[in-house]
Amino acid sequence: MSTTTNEWNAALYNAKHAFVYAYGNSLVELLNPEINERILDLGCGSGQLTAAIGEKCAEIVGMDASETMIKSAKELYPDIDFLICDAANFEVEKPFDAVFSNATLHWVKDYKNAVKCIYNVLKPGGRLVVEFGGKGNVKTIVDALVETLNNFGFKDAETKNPWYFPSIAAYTSVLEEIGFDVEVGHLYKRPTLLADKATGIIDWLTMFATSFFVDVPVEIQEKVKYQVQEKVKPVLFINGNWYADYKRLRVVAFKNQQ
Ligand code: BEZ
Repeated sequence: MSTTTNEWNAALYNAKHAFVYAYGNSLVELLNPEINERILDLGCGSGQLTAAIGEKCAEIVGMDASETMIKSAKELYPDIDFLICDAANFEVEKPFDAVFSNATLHWVKDYKNAVKCIYNVLKPGGRLVVEFGGKGNVKTIVDALVETLNNFGFKDAETKNPWYFPSIAAYTSVLEEIGFDVEVGHLYKRPTLLADKATGIIDWLTMFATSFFVDVPVEIQEKVKYQVQEKVKPVLFINGNWYADYKRLRVVAFKNQQ
């Protein structure tokens, strides 16, 4: 699920953030893989959804920018073809019937080149089925994080934001510009239960928000994470559980027939 050069902690990801692929099952249903198809899972993480798709189609390939995630995927599913790749700069020899991507494309700031690469690896008429963070995603957490870092003197916190969370209009316009016909564009709230009742937000920040903490001394990082968790508590601590305020953008589009 990472297509940046960030290295991921695969153990923390699998232990406390398994919701990333658990939520992806409904997207696999929407993809509806067919038995004769060749499919790419772009941003496959440790490969759980890749394997689920692979059970239903002829050929499956998983790609991810994270070496750690690809290593973990290969260990878990040795029979599947997993490759390290940059989502904004990749090509393949044999085109795909469909490209699937769950919880990845918000990491790709070079989103136009990512859409171009996807377009180029699809057969004419091939489909793109994606879900990622959309406009307003994790806004409560990000606002609290930037404010807290600013208060600690890290005034450039906003510039460290690694994410692209587009609106429906912004993303579907890019798709159309590059040559897709868009069939579905849906932005919806999906409050996401975090695994640890004591440190849910702190764990989430440790797993996903690392780029905000570059240049922040470790002892300050701990204080910032604790203060962020306290700040968002009135909104994101509900009936004894922590939630992240996710907003997902789900899109289905087809490459123009040429
Ligand atoms: C997401 O899945 O929306 C997401 C995950 C990590 C960081 C930011 C967003």
